[in-house]
Amino acid sequence: MSFADKSLFSSDQLSPEMIDQVFSRAKLFKDEFQAKKRIDHLVRKDSLNQMVLALVFAEPSTRTRMSFQMAAARLGVRTLVLDNPASASLSKGETWDDTLRNIAAMKPDVMVVRYNNDLDADAAVKEFPFPIISGGIGTAEHPTQALADAFTIKESHGQVKGEKVLIVGDVRHSRVANSDLSLLSRMGAEIAYCSPKEFVPSHDQWKSIKYFSSLDEGLDWASVAMALRIQKERHQSGVGLSVAEYREQYRIGNDQLKRLGDKGILLHPGPVIRGVEISATAMSDSRCKILDQVTNGVFVRAALISLILDLEVQKS
Ligand code: CP
Repeated sequence: MSFADKSLFSSDQLSPEMIDQVFSRAKLFKDEFQAKKRIDHLVRKDSLNQMVLALVFAEPSTRTRMSFQMAAARLGVRTLVLDNPASASLSKGETWDDTLRNIAAMKPDVMVVRYNNDLDADAAVKEFPFPIISGGIGTAEHPTQALADAFTIKESHGQVKGEKVLIVGDVRHSRVANSDLSLLSRMGAEIAYCSPKEFVPSHDQWKSIKYFSSLDEGLDWASVAMALRIQKERHQSGVGLSVAEYREQYRIGNDQLKRLGDKGILLHPGPVIRGVEISATAMSDSRCKILDQVTNGVFVRAALISLILDLEVQKS
């Protein structure tokens, strides 16, 4: 199946052939960037055709938004960004779905969107006559983060198949956890999770997934540990667990890294609440690949943009 003109909302849409296409192009871009500090010369200029990518972010973001902007800049695709309601006509009472419709009427070639599940924006974006890429939607999915995570595991360990991935923390409210479960398990990884009872996921797809109540036991089992942020903004009625209690039982520090072993790797989609989810010393351990996830996110997103826009890419 081809990516051209296709939207991406869920990791479930990515067939093995599509994942291979993204990864081989992302690797081409990363290798070329490491050698020459640029990738734009790999893209045929006439296929760019003044393409414009619009980014509309109704929830805060550092990595996803800037990573798409960086990816587009490296390719030579122009970007338009709306991410601050206070400087937009949202502050005059326009709704997010009307805002999206108005930006769509400016006719970008592709749009990256981030919004909360309760924003009722899905109906609007699904009407648009150009491809949409999810930049993370509420607690539902974050498929490009899952691609960056899978690419990082493959880069570190040579494969995803057979890896034992332990997802730690607020799985219940994490869109990344849902997209990782779908993508990594279809790529042949074994997934387990470890969370306090307050953060045990309720979706059906998690019902048959291995659960560790003890972080130590989970890390003894795992080859990859993926810590998650505590998604406080989604805990509408609070949770019966203090930050201190969470830190005591679920923070990954040096003692926990020992259980992961010399070959294990530590991931986190970011933003990390340093000292709560991961200790400062574990953040600087060589097994911590969080900044590699960020770097890889740029090349994976550049690959995805180039495939969706059907840009002609050649090896140098
Ligand atoms: N991983 C991720 O989605 O980070 P941001 O919220 O900063 O985009």
